[in-house]
Amino acid sequence: MDSIVVTGNGPLSGEIAIAGAKNACLALMPATLLTEEPLILTGAPRLSDIKTMTVLLESLGADAASLQDGQVLAMSSHDLKSTRADYDIVRKMRASNLVLGPLLAREGHAEVSLPGGCAIGARPMDLHQDGLEALGAEIELRDGYLHAKAANGLRGAQIALRFPSVGATENIVMAATLAKGTTVLDNAAREPEIVDLVRCLRAMGAQIEGEGTSRIEIQGVDRLGGATHRVVTDRIELGTYMLAPAIAGGEVECLGGTLDLVQSFVDKLVETGVEVEETARGLKVRRAPGARVQAVDVETAVFPGFPTDLQAQMMALLTTAEGVSQLHETIFENRFMHAPELTRMGAEIDVQGGTATVTGVARLKGAPVMATDLRASVSLILAGLAAEGETVVNRVYHLDRGYEQVVRKLRGVGAQVERVKG
Ligand code: EPZ
Repeated sequence: MDSIVVTGNGPLSGEIAIAGAKNACLALMPATLLTEEPLILTGAPRLSDIKTMTVLLESLGADAASLQDGQVLAMSSHDLKSTRADYDIVRKMRASNLVLGPLLAREGHAEVSLPGGCAIGARPMDLHQDGLEALGAEIELRDGYLHAKAANGLRGAQIALRFPSVGATENIVMAATLAKGTTVLDNAAREPEIVDLVRCLRAMGAQIEGEGTSRIEIQGVDRLGGATHRVVTDRIELGTYMLAPAIAGGEVECLGGTLDLVQSFVDKLVETGVEVEETARGLKVRRAPGARVQAVDVETAVFPGFPTDLQAQMMALLTTAEGVSQLHETIFENRFMHAPELTRMGAEIDVQGGTATVTGVARLKGAPVMATDLRASVSLILAGLAAEGETVVNRVYHLDRGYEQVVRKLRGVGAQVERVKG
């Protein structure tokens, strides 16, 4: 297994191009199942999760071609040959469950494995199931699979989510586009990835209003057509790279970034004393070398709150802040596995349930550390940028799931980072 070696190398400077959003692309790709016509996604990120979704769609009988070095995904699903998403694919990537709604709407049945737990939590699918049953599906859990069928097709319904689940919102909205009648989804997720999915579905002929708000209304249509859609910028990659100059000092411009994608995160970053400027090309971040950032308290929340997917990366910054910070993780039950690894680098972190108390230290010290999940792995690399000496991050296959060319992008702004084949 490869590792990434980071050596603290002083302030950074330059620019980093931000890729298309992994979590938007993983919802957009299953939308090809809703139509027989071609769906073309441009600005797609080059990630192993995208490859996994491609394999899944092909296993269902869809064509999914990756063009222009992976930045264009050309898909079509004329004749599906299967409606089964196997355990061995779903357990590796939970987002595989986003084929459930489209398959139900298109074929009237689907067998999708439950993902099982993952490093950050149990990840149940009860909200997906409740919503799809409200649309008229019959869903039974058997041998680890959700066996879903809607022999008479789906029909519009009034649905209120107990929690604004991103994935459940995506599955329900995609299924409702082909249901008979009107669906109103209350307490819907408001993430930018939902907005991007709805914009693509609308380009395919879906009739949907309210994306980005807590109430989405869908008028079912008989069929959807193809479309060409550009994937929205990845707000989590954006926030991650904004933290590089915040941690190491210097000035970096993140190209393609816009404030509306990361407003809550930027508010917190500015509160620590880091400067953020919106430019014509993206977001520029500046932190004077030597000036320590100030401690702040962070509580993760659904959009537009502070993103849980940036909590680990923010903790890396706060380990070197002046003062004591409290990070409260409200979305997932086990998302502090990066804390013991940061502690190996000299950080002072006390985790009690969903709250981590971080007492800032002047300087971290490089050490061998272990990546446990996608966002934890990149938080360790960020910590290594400011640490004294060498940090070796092991098990970086987690990283390849969500960050394209992370070594190239960081070296491009002066970081001393390399990938070592293992
Ligand atoms: C999406 O996961 C993202 N993944 C996650 O990003 C992200 O952390 C999460 O949304 C929250 O923003 C993709 O978009 C592919 P949820 P999802 O359903 O849809 C509970 C990353 O690092 N829940 O909003 O699975 C669940 O257990 C990944 O890129 C239920 O209880 O998130 C969790 O505690 C990690 N029942 C909370 O809701 C359900 O049926 C949020 O889950 C569904 C979810």
